[in-house]
Amino acid sequence: LDNGVAMQPPMGWLTWQRFRCVTDCDTYPDTCIGEKLIRDTADRMAQDGWLASGYEFVTVDDCWASHQRDAQGRLQGDPDRFPGGMRALADYVHSRGLKFGIYADYGNLTCGGYPGSINNLQLDAQTFASWGVDLVKLDGCYSDPAKQAAGYAQFGSYLNKTGRPIVFSCSYPAYQEKNIIDYWGSNDANMSTWNGPQHWNDPDMVIVGDFGLSPVQQEAQMAFWCLWSAPLILSLDLRSVPTDSARILRNALAIAINKDPMGYQGCLLFKRGDVQVWRKLMSRGDFAFVLYYNSDGGTPARLGVSLKDLALPAGLKPPFDCVDVFTFASAGRFADTDTAVKFDVLPSGGVRFVYCRRPASAANGSPAV
Ligand code: DGJ
Repeated sequence: LDNGVAMQPPMGWLTWQRFRCVTDCDTYPDTCIGEKLIRDTADRMAQDGWLASGYEFVTVDDCWASHQRDAQGRLQGDPDRFPGGMRALADYVHSRGLKFGIYADYGNLTCGGYPGSINNLQLDAQTFASWGVDLVKLDGCYSDPAKQAAGYAQFGSYLNKTGRPIVFSCSYPAYQEKNIIDYWGSNDANMSTWNGPQHWNDPDMVIVGDFGLSPVQQEAQMAFWCLWSAPLILSLDLRSVPTDSARILRNALAIAINKDPMGYQGCLLFKRGDVQVWRKLMSRGDFAFVLYYNSDGGTPARLGVSLKDLALPAGLKPPFDCVDVFTFASAGRFADTDTAVKFDVLPSGGVRFVYCRRPASAANGSPAV
């Protein structure tokens, strides 16, 4: 939306992947979709340094709403789980210096079976604005895929008309096509055009620190999301974050690469065997690249990469000094165009995430390394 928000990829937290649609707060008081979870998370974000790292949106996904709209036809929070109401909850989140996000669905019902917005698009946009909502995720269950492109744009115009600057998180492409790393690799020409300030392609939640990803997979997800200038929307329990996951998620260099002002969506350059080579051009002539070992196992890969391989624009001349984003150790120097620098690539599913800059640009505002 052209409303002055999302100049950089949004960063925050979302209930869905970790907390899903648990509505039994008697049995699960800490993890059900309700006020306590949102308030606890806002507290943790503000107090434990997540906000300082840039994570600012606290967003409740599906299953927050009452099954009944109110007498004026407006959405309302489930009265048992959100007894203070959504406006008060937004106020609480704002009082912690954070922003409040909410979920709606373009169809007849949300995926979880709560009221959809299809017949109330403008009213729902107005209701959210009146609560002080800062981000709306609009899902696409129970909607007609053929109508989504126009319908989402219409909802976007209603958000704009509210006069409140609201980030619009648009889920409908997920209902048309998806297979994240492969899709981003094969559709760069089509997608990267649309990536930049105020409009970011969204490969979905970051699940580092949630159940399911191994340590090398966690680094891989963070590396790709940052290489793509993607929204960093976490879904984990911020009351119990594994230390290594927090270190990955709050890596200041990775976040600086994600937020690089050019907003460039890093692209797949080539595959050599099972190793993929991706590169992101950055402001001031810096660049980052990812070596991704997409294999089912076996020996960790070792790859030589030269500047020629990285296909830099003609104006970008060596030397470049490089650093490993996750360890902060030197990753070597590209002294000329042809000499290959050797990199270990982690075991299957793993990445090397490397940031390079001209030595002279150090004094010039490059991210600290
Ligand atoms: C499908 C979306 O892909 C998820 O992110 C989540 O919003 C669920 N719907 C909620 O029902």
